[in-house]
Amino acid sequence: MIKIGLIGAGFMGAMHASCYEALAGGRDDFRVTAVADDDPAKAAKLAGKLGADVYASAEALMREADVNAVDICLPTHLHFETAASAMKNGFDVFVEKPVCLTESEAETLLALQRETGAQAMVGQCIRFWPEYTELKRLKDSGVYGRLLSGVFKRISPRPGWAWNGWLHDPAKSGSAALDLHVHDVDFVRSLLGEPDRLVAETVSRDGANGHIFSLYRYGDAVVSLEGGWDYPETFPFEMAYRVSFERATVVFSSAADPSLRIYEAGGGVIEPKPEASTPAAGDGDSGGNISSLGGYYNELRYFLDCLAAGRPIEQSTLQDGCDSLKLTLREIAAAHHAAGNEGGKRT
Ligand SMILES: NC(=O)c1ccc[n+]([C@@H]2O[C@H](COP(=O)([O-])OP(=O)(O)OC[C@H]3O[C@@H](n4cnc5c(N)ncnc54)[C@H](O)[C@@H]3O)[C@@H](O)[C@H]2O)c1
Repeated sequence: MIKIGLIGAGFMGAMHASCYEALAGGRDDFRVTAVADDDPAKAAKLAGKLGADVYASAEALMREADVNAVDICLPTHLHFETAASAMKNGFDVFVEKPVCLTESEAETLLALQRETGAQAMVGQCIRFWPEYTELKRLKDSGVYGRLLSGVFKRISPRPGWAWNGWLHDPAKSGSAALDLHVHDVDFVRSLLGEPDRLVAETVSRDGANGHIFSLYRYGDAVVSLEGGWDYPETFPFEMAYRVSFERATVVFSSAADPSLRIYEAGGGVIEPKPEASTPAAGDGDSGGNISSLGGYYNELRYFLDCLAAGRPIEQSTLQDGCDSLKLTLREIAAAHHAAGNEGGKRT
């Protein structure tokens, strides 16, 4: 039996709790046995839904609860110490993205995983998001030929839901680049690997990178990525892509209906509906801008499947999370370098 300790009962903790509730309907090989949060009311609310015990801190949960894996949904600056402690204590780990904030933290986590043999997965959920999985399937199958270019976008109002405003503190969240944009960096890495070279620019205010634009070169293909959360609170969240292959252009926007279209060379237009495969977000407990449990549900199902079967985690691994963190940090460094040199300089 997989016994999960959910650590952090804010926005993402609530989202994961909804996923576990939906998953528990169809399987009996796991339970969420413990929920921890600094705020006992938040922990109690999720624990009540899941039939779990409440703990006042991550440390108390890891010391006292009946768990063999932890799911870390804490503010990002707490990921490193909590994931490190979990592996040292013999637990398997699911940790929300971004996995941590610095390269040296990433290296330490990877070393700890090698030492302890812990299973570890990072919540880079876009790899599991139905419309993005569909794009990867099209690319890998080669059905429309080579990928020629791509545009990936993730834009949001300033996030107002974070506990004590931690998202607005770059030292705690890493700003929009590490918190938001890392999703597209990770997905593009999963699609095409490390770029041959890149350029990047950021829009910064009050010491925070609220918006980042980057261009990746892969052989003769070019991919542009944009991530920003410096828009007013009324501005609607949107994640989107437009990817051109030799024989089709695939277009997705979370703000469009239908959200996904394939414009084929020769005149065909297809409207696949891959999102229909995951449950709706439910009663709105988790807030935010997501109407479907989508990739959150799929990634946690995959995590549980691997643990239940004793199979190594091969998707969105700790290594993947660390590599995507490093590529995003490389973009930030390139942008700072460009700002210091009056223009985009290749790295
Ligand atoms: N995958 C995604 O699409 C996605 C979306 C949103 C957030 N996230 C990530 O999930 C993580 C959590 O973000 P969130 O939006 O849920 O934040 P949040 O502010 O809504 O929730 C954080 C929770 O942690 C609790 N907490 C803070 N310090 C604590 C401590 N020391 N011990 C125990 N509890 C503590 C707070 O009380 C709060 O309930 C972040 O890393 C964020 O980047 C991922």
